[in-house]
Amino acid sequence: MIRPILKYGAAGLHHPARDVEAITPEILALIDDMVATMYAAPGIGLAAPQVGVPLRVFVVDLSVGKDPAAQITMINPVFLDREGMQLEEEGCLSVPGFNATVSRPQRAVVRGLDREGCERQREGTGLLARAFQHEMDHLDGRLFVDRIRGIKRDLIVRKIRKLAKSGQW
Ligand code: NI
Repeated sequence: MIRPILKYGAAGLHHPARDVEAITPEILALIDDMVATMYAAPGIGLAAPQVGVPLRVFVVDLSVGKDPAAQITMINPVFLDREGMQLEEEGCLSVPGFNATVSRPQRAVVRGLDREGCERQREGTGLLARAFQHEMDHLDGRLFVDRIRGIKRDLIVRKIRKLAKSGQW
């Protein structure tokens, strides 16, 4: 089932999420829905807070459904390692129509549980490292807009406010 994606400004996006305590049928349904919602958008990553669920779960698939091996589910993820720095344009399904250059680690190692409850470790470089950091930020209540400063950030926030005021956000 495709779930509605919260947009910048919705309270659920701006608070830290809590750990999943048990992988119940509801959690598995949430993950299925998150994958379906990510593919429908389409996007390469989605975190549970984006569909209004304050739990530490994210899904990432750089192939957007084309390669089953590329689908990653992380429950209660933590960073084991991050290094280097990359600067690339980035967007977010919760901030549609906007993007900005964001500094991210060049390489990131994440450990979490998969949907079977098995501990998994994934290493990403480049875009995958960026996606891991972006989704982990969502679990901490942070969006890419919060990672940029100055005029670019002010411009995005002001435009969103204007859209919200006219009911177009
Ligand atoms: Ni995002």
